[in-house]
Amino acid sequence: MLILGIESSCDETGVALVQTTDEAGCDAVPRLLAHALHSQIDMHQAYGGVVPELASRDHIRRVLPLTQSVLNESGHTLQDIDWVAYTRGPGLAGALLVGAGVACAMAAALDKPTLGIHHLEGHLLSPFLSADPPRFPFVALLVSGGHTQLMQVDGVGRYILLGETIDDAAGEAFDKSAKLLGLGYPGGPALSRLAVRGQDDAFKLPRPLLHSGDLDFSFAGLKTAVLTQAKKLGDALEDRKADLAASTQAAIVEVLVKKSLSALQQTGLKRLVVAGGVGANVRLRSQLNEACARRGVRVHYPELHLCTDNGAMIALAAGMRLQAGLATDAPQAYAFDVKPRWPLADIVAKIAA
Ligand code: KG4
Ligand code: ZN
Repeated sequence: MLILGIESSCDETGVALVQTTDEAGCDAVPRLLAHALHSQIDMHQAYGGVVPELASRDHIRRVLPLTQSVLNESGHTLQDIDWVAYTRGPGLAGALLVGAGVACAMAAALDKPTLGIHHLEGHLLSPFLSADPPRFPFVALLVSGGHTQLMQVDGVGRYILLGETIDDAAGEAFDKSAKLLGLGYPGGPALSRLAVRGQDDAFKLPRPLLHSGDLDFSFAGLKTAVLTQAKKLGDALEDRKADLAASTQAAIVEVLVKKSLSALQQTGLKRLVVAGGVGANVRLRSQLNEACARRGVRVHYPELHLCTDNGAMIALAAGMRLQAGLATDAPQAYAFDVKPRWPLADIVAKIAA
């Protein structure tokens, strides 16, 4: 089966084509035939963040040319496609509607079924496309611009939430701190690049909920602490920016690492999967690798270029769902909706029902 996947939840338009294997079941991983991506970073940079209306309009411009390039690269035609998958949520409503609208129109024209995919499930399963894919069960640390969650993942669609942020997400903490330091958008990569030249312990910044005993996170206080430090430094900020960036990154990473280790200990699992944009952070990767190696835990990441939003993870999640017999959308129903706010727990409940 050939599955086309379309991602348009935020500021990246992604399209991909995967092929399911003959094997059935949870561990069967579809093959990625081709994928194409257009990032809107350059367009939003002038505004210091994502402008939703501009994002939607750009998705409209990009989605069909990207689809064509995926078909060309894979040597397939539209008529070969068996399923059309798209990101149904969470994300920006207008942006989601572009992907959903195009996917459903295309499927209707081809007389093929559609499958609406949860964006976080895409991130969660994306390490299966890496050269070192995980095996179920595992603990997942999902760290994106909008979400920070620890989950126990027992199989496709079998997700147990262990803890999550009670306010800002880790990516948001990177982005907001970077903005305070006058770095560009997206802030995460900019802040981590600057941090390389700074001292991790130059400033004492809070590690919220580090010893709370549960697996929840809180990052909202961190940006306030960064702002307070920046104000205190005044004119000296320019010379100490790299130190402040390094200290901010160290605070975020320490909390993420400690809580991931607690989740592994609580569940007794020996495998960790890291997914979402912040999973591209080099310091997070090196600290996790080191801490996990000491405990005999295997860590899996998506390929670097599949850490941030892309179509491959959406096509993959659709393929893995179909192979596991979990296609939850009504086939051939081309009426669609999108879910800008959509807890991952909802798709678990749906499966259990
Ligand atoms: O998963 P993603 O592409 O989009 C969402 O679903 O939100 O994640 C984007 C987030 C942004 O907050 C961005 O600053 C952060 O991931 N990010 C990073 C790095 N690369 C992307 N944060 C820290 N270090 C990075 N290298
Ligand atoms: Zn994402």
